[in-house]
Amino acid sequence: MPSPAEKSIDPSDAVIRFSGVSKRFDAAKILDGIDLTVHRGEKIALMGFSGCGKTTLLRCINGLEQFDAGEIVVNGNNLSDSVLDWNRFRSRIGMVFQQFNLFPHLTVLENVMLGPVRVKKVHKAQALERAHQLLGQVGIADKANLYPEHLSGGQKQRVAIARSLAMEPDILLLDEPTSALDPPMSREVLSVIEQVAAQGMTLVMVTHELRFVAHMADRLVFINSGKVVEEGSPSDILRHAQQETTRRYLEIFETA
Ligand SMILES: Nc1ncnc2c1ncn2[C@@H]1O[C@H](COP(=O)(O)OP(=O)(O)OP(=O)(O)O)[C@@H](O)[C@H]1O
Ligand SMILES: [Mg+2]
Repeated sequence: MPSPAEKSIDPSDAVIRFSGVSKRFDAAKILDGIDLTVHRGEKIALMGFSGCGKTTLLRCINGLEQFDAGEIVVNGNNLSDSVLDWNRFRSRIGMVFQQFNLFPHLTVLENVMLGPVRVKKVHKAQALERAHQLLGQVGIADKANLYPEHLSGGQKQRVAIARSLAMEPDILLLDEPTSALDPPMSREVLSVIEQVAAQGMTLVMVTHELRFVAHMADRLVFINSGKVVEEGSPSDILRHAQQETTRRYLEIFETA
C-alpha cells in the first residue's frame, strides 16, 4: 500500500483535522495540543502506552468526548458548531469498540439492521438485504439469527464491524478491536478489517498489532502523555523510531 507521500494527497481532502486540541479530566491534561490531519482514504494507526489518551482522541472525532481547547473539523463540520446535527454527523462515522457493544436482546441480523432502519429510515426489506450481504462479507452469514451471547468473541467483533458498515460511513474508527480476542480470532478480525480498508474507507484504528500496522497503515501516529510525539510511515517508525518512548513501546510490543 503506498505511503501518504506516495499517494500525492490533496491537502483540501482533509476529512479529520485537529488543531491544538486539549482536554482535561479534573487536574490531569489528557490531550495536550493535538494537531492531526487525516485525508480521505487514509489508514491511520494510533499507538501509545495505556493511558496516553488514544481512546479519548478517537472519541473526540465523533463527538463522544468533549474537548476544552482547539478546533476539530470532521467531514467539513466544526465540532464546536452549536447547530451541528449530531445524528446526521455521527451516522457517517462508524465506531468499533474493544468490547463489541452489541445489543444483547437483538439477533445478529437485528443488530446490523437497527441503525439503518432507526436512524437512516431505510426501508426494512432493503436493510435486511444489505445486512445479509454484510454478514456474508464478514464471513458469518450463517449466524444471522443467533443472539450475541451465542457467538465467539471474533464473531461478535465481526457483527460489530458489519453493524458499522451498514450505516455506510465514510470514516471508520476502531478502538483496539482485537485486544479482547485470542490470536486466531484476532487474525480473523484483522483480515476483515483489511478487506474493509481495501475498499477505500478512511480508517483510524487504535491497535498494538505491530505487524498488521506495518502491512496495512499509511501512517503511524504515536501518542505520549496526550501529545503526538512521532508520526510517519509505519515502516520508518518501526525500524527507526526517533523518540526514546516510541522505541521503548516498540520493544515491549514486538515481543508481546
Ligand atoms: N471519563 C473520565 N474521567 C476521568 N479520567 C478519564 C476519563 N476517561 C479517561 N480518563 C483518563 O484519561 C487518560 C487517558 O485515557 P484513555 O482511555 O484515552 O487512554 P488510552 O490511551 O486509550 O489507554 P488504554 O490503552 O488503556 O485504552 C487516563 O489516565 C484515564 O484514566
Ligand atoms: Mg483506550
